[in-house]
Amino acid sequence: MRKNRLRLVGVLAAVLVATGIGSPAQASHKQPTLADLAERHGRYFGSATDNPELTDTAYKALLGSEFDMITPGNGMKWYATEPQQGVFDWTNGDEIVDLARSKHQRVRAHTLVWHSQLPSWLTGREWTAGELRAVLKKHIQTEVRHYRGKVYSWDVVNEAFNEDGTYRETLWYKTLGPGYIADALRWAHQADPHAKLYVNDYNIEAVGPKSDAYYALAKELKAQRVPLDGIGLQAHLALQYGYPTTLEDNLRRFSRLGLDTALTEVDVRMILPATDEKLAQQADWYRDLTEACLAVRRCVGVTVWDYTDKYSWIPAFFPGEGAALPWDEQLLPKPAYFAIRDALK
Ligand code: XIL
Repeated sequence: MRKNRLRLVGVLAAVLVATGIGSPAQASHKQPTLADLAERHGRYFGSATDNPELTDTAYKALLGSEFDMITPGNGMKWYATEPQQGVFDWTNGDEIVDLARSKHQRVRAHTLVWHSQLPSWLTGREWTAGELRAVLKKHIQTEVRHYRGKVYSWDVVNEAFNEDGTYRETLWYKTLGPGYIADALRWAHQADPHAKLYVNDYNIEAVGPKSDAYYALAKELKAQRVPLDGIGLQAHLALQYGYPTTLEDNLRRFSRLGLDTALTEVDVRMILPATDEKLAQQADWYRDLTEACLAVRRCVGVTVWDYTDKYSWIPAFFPGEGAALPWDEQLLPKPAYFAIRDALK
């Protein structure tokens, strides 16, 4: 009898917490997070973050609660991790991985082979193919080994193609030829056989010459048994260029090759000032892209390229544009946030 009454009290307390009746702290836990909603579909909902903004406690609280996947925006790039040849610095990457782990979040690691944000010791001289191969292998294997068992996936190669689907003439391509992509994937796989290995790029959301190049590459790599697990579609979208309406079809064709896909760096920028109309259109786009991922079985999740306009990279890189993320500069949710929730419900 007494036992039953205790059980009843327990159930009542649970109901009060679940419905948000109780202390304000309990009430704020009532709403499922984007991560909770995504998990019901077997997906994740992630955000990029960067080391300087981790001193912002309100920012950090939302980052730690609303998402279940984290990407370091800069901390794992070559300039940060191997600033001098053979001298590795894990400070920034570790800070973000440790924070994510403390919040039971997984990590999409970013990025190993890219033409941008390279240290000057690497770009400031000529390399023979033999030398550069050794430098690349060492960088990849040292970094992947360091994070082995701690990250869900790696963006192994980033932005390898031009808009017309030809190979981008990077340091890597010019010195090593197109085989550097398969090599990089094999080296990364040796260093962490459990990490999901991705190639990642922008403007490949729609079917077109650039995404066709990835489709052809993926097919070829699969045929050669190269360890490629997924294609990352950055999805840096802009209202003035129109929505990529073939996104879902595009995700599906990669799935059919036996690959995962992910939207890895989502933002939807607009020409400033933001108006109610533009914010409503932005919300529609966030809803649509979330629904596209949910509609394709092997689309594993969505990551926004940071979650608040306060720390977006857009204003610095696209002058006159901004307001690209689901939370505003005051960390208040925008229509886009509610649209994502709708899509996930
Ligand atoms: C951006 C970062 O957000 C900025 O802080 C940095 O100054 C430049 O790079 N594609 C990518 C990301 O793969 O690494 C880029 O991140 C955005 C475009």
